[in-house]
Amino acid sequence: MEQYDVVYIGGGPAGYVGAIRSAQLGMKTACVEKRKALGGTCLNIGCIPSKALLDSSEHFAFVKHKAAKHGLVVGDLKIDLGQMMKRKDQVVTGLTTGIAGLFKKNKIAHLVGHGRITAPGTVEVVAENGAKETISAKNIVIATGSDVARIPVAALDGVRVISSTEALALPQVPKSMVVIGGGAIGLEMGSVWMRLGADVTVVEYNERIASFADHQISGELLKILQRQGMKFKLATKVVNVQNVGSKAAVEMEPAAGGTRETIEADVVLVAVGRKPFTDNLGLDKIGLATDKAGRIEIDNHFRTKVAGVYAIGDVVRGPMLAHKAEDEGIAVAEIMAGKAGHVNYDAIPSVIYTWPELATVGMSEQDCKAKEIAVRTGTFPFIANGRAKAMDESEGMIKIIADAKTDRLLGLHMVGPRASDMIAEAVMVMEFGGSAEDIALSTHAHPTLPEAMKEAALAVHKRAIHF
Ligand code: NAI
Repeated sequence: MEQYDVVYIGGGPAGYVGAIRSAQLGMKTACVEKRKALGGTCLNIGCIPSKALLDSSEHFAFVKHKAAKHGLVVGDLKIDLGQMMKRKDQVVTGLTTGIAGLFKKNKIAHLVGHGRITAPGTVEVVAENGAKETISAKNIVIATGSDVARIPVAALDGVRVISSTEALALPQVPKSMVVIGGGAIGLEMGSVWMRLGADVTVVEYNERIASFADHQISGELLKILQRQGMKFKLATKVVNVQNVGSKAAVEMEPAAGGTRETIEADVVLVAVGRKPFTDNLGLDKIGLATDKAGRIEIDNHFRTKVAGVYAIGDVVRGPMLAHKAEDEGIAVAEIMAGKAGHVNYDAIPSVIYTWPELATVGMSEQDCKAKEIAVRTGTFPFIANGRAKAMDESEGMIKIIADAKTDRLLGLHMVGPRASDMIAEAVMVMEFGGSAEDIALSTHAHPTLPEAMKEAALAVHKRAIHF
C-alpha cells in the first residue's frame, strides 16, 4: 500500500492549493480527484467558465450599446455562440492543465477516482472503471466541496430546468429565462444570457438581491440591472415549475402569501445556493457526522473530531468561496507542518461579477447595527470619478463603514466598474487593522477608479473633495 504524509480528497481550490503547499513544505502528498481535470467546481463548472462567458457577453453588450458613444461604428454584429463556448472551454482547459503541471512540478500524486475513507489513515480510490486502490496517509484532508442545492418545486431536468452547470453550456440563446435565486450565480448567469438576448426574470425569495451586501449597495445594483433590462420578482417564492412542452411554466406567489402568477420561459435556472458534498465519503466509517446544513464540523485548526482527519473549503462553515477555500488549503498545510496557519474570516471579500461589479468586504451598515456597533459611513459615487467618466462607466458607488469611535475600517461595500479588483485595497487595510483615515491619507494615482475609494474615506469625515 502506497504511504503518504497527507492525502487531500478533492482537487478543487481547497484541495489542490493545500496539496501544493503541503508538497512545498516537504510532505509526500497525494490528491484524490474524481474528475480527470483538476480545479474542482471553480475551474471546471464555476468561477472560471462563468467569467469567460461574462467577459465575452460584456464585450457583445459593449459593442451593441456603448461603442457608438465612443465613436465606434460597428456593422452587422452577430453572436457565434459555438466560438464563445469554445473559447470558454479553452480557458478552462488551459488552467486545469496548468494545475496538472504544478502537481508534476511539486511531485504530487494525482489519483483519479472517487475517494472514500475506510478507516482513519486509509483512503480507497475507486476509478471510473471500478478499479480500486487503497492508500494510507498520516493525515487526511477532506476537501470535497459542494454541489448545487435543489428545491423540490423545481426538479432539475438539465434541459428546461437547469443548474449553473448547464447554464454554462446552453446550445442556443433562450428567448426567455426565469432565474430562481438572486444571489451570485443567478445574477451572473442571468447577466450573461440577458446580454446575449434573453428576456430574464429573477425570482428572489428575499426582499433584496445579493443579500450579503449593504442594503444601499445591493439596492444600487438592483436599479442598474433593471436599467439593463433584467426583471425582478422580489419577496416572491416559486411554488411550482412544470414542463409544458417547449416551455416551463413557473408558478409563484408573494413570499408572505397572496395571489399567484405564472411566467412561462424557455429555460429555468435554479440558483438557490450550494450544499456541502460528502456523498459516499465514508464519514460513517470513522464516526463523523454532518450538521443540519450537511457541513463537517471542525475546530479553529480545521481538525475534525477524528485525529488525523481535517476538513476545509465548501464542506465546512463559512462562505462557499474559492478564495476562502484556497486560504484554508494553505493554512491547513501549514498547521499540519507545525506552523501557524491562519485565515482571517473577517476580511474575506465577496464579489458578484455583473457589470458593473458588486464587491464587499467586512460588515455592512446593517450588520453593525445588529451588533450595536456605532459607525460612521462615507459614500462616493463613480459619477464624480474622472476615470469612470473617461471610461463612460460611471454607474455605482462606494460605501465605507468605519467604527465611530476608532475610525477602524469595518467594511467596504461597492458596486462599480472593476469593483472586483478594487476591493483588494480594502481587504489589505482591514488585514492591517487600518482606518478610513488611512485610506484617505494614502495617495491614489490619478486618474484611477480607486480614487473613489479615497473620496469615500474622506466622506466618512464629511470632507470628500469632488462630491
Ligand atoms: P446564493 O446563496 O448566493 O444565492 C441564492 C439566492 O437564492 C439567495 O438570495 C436566496 O435568498 C435565494 N433563494 C433560495 N431559495 C429560494 C427559493 N426557493 N425561491 C427564490 N429564491 C430563493 O447562491 P448561488 O447564487 O446559487 O451560489 C451558490 C454558491 O456559490 C454561493 O455560496 C455563492 O457565494 C457561490 N458563488 C460565488 C460566486 C462569486 O464569488 N462570484 C459566483 C457564483 C457562486
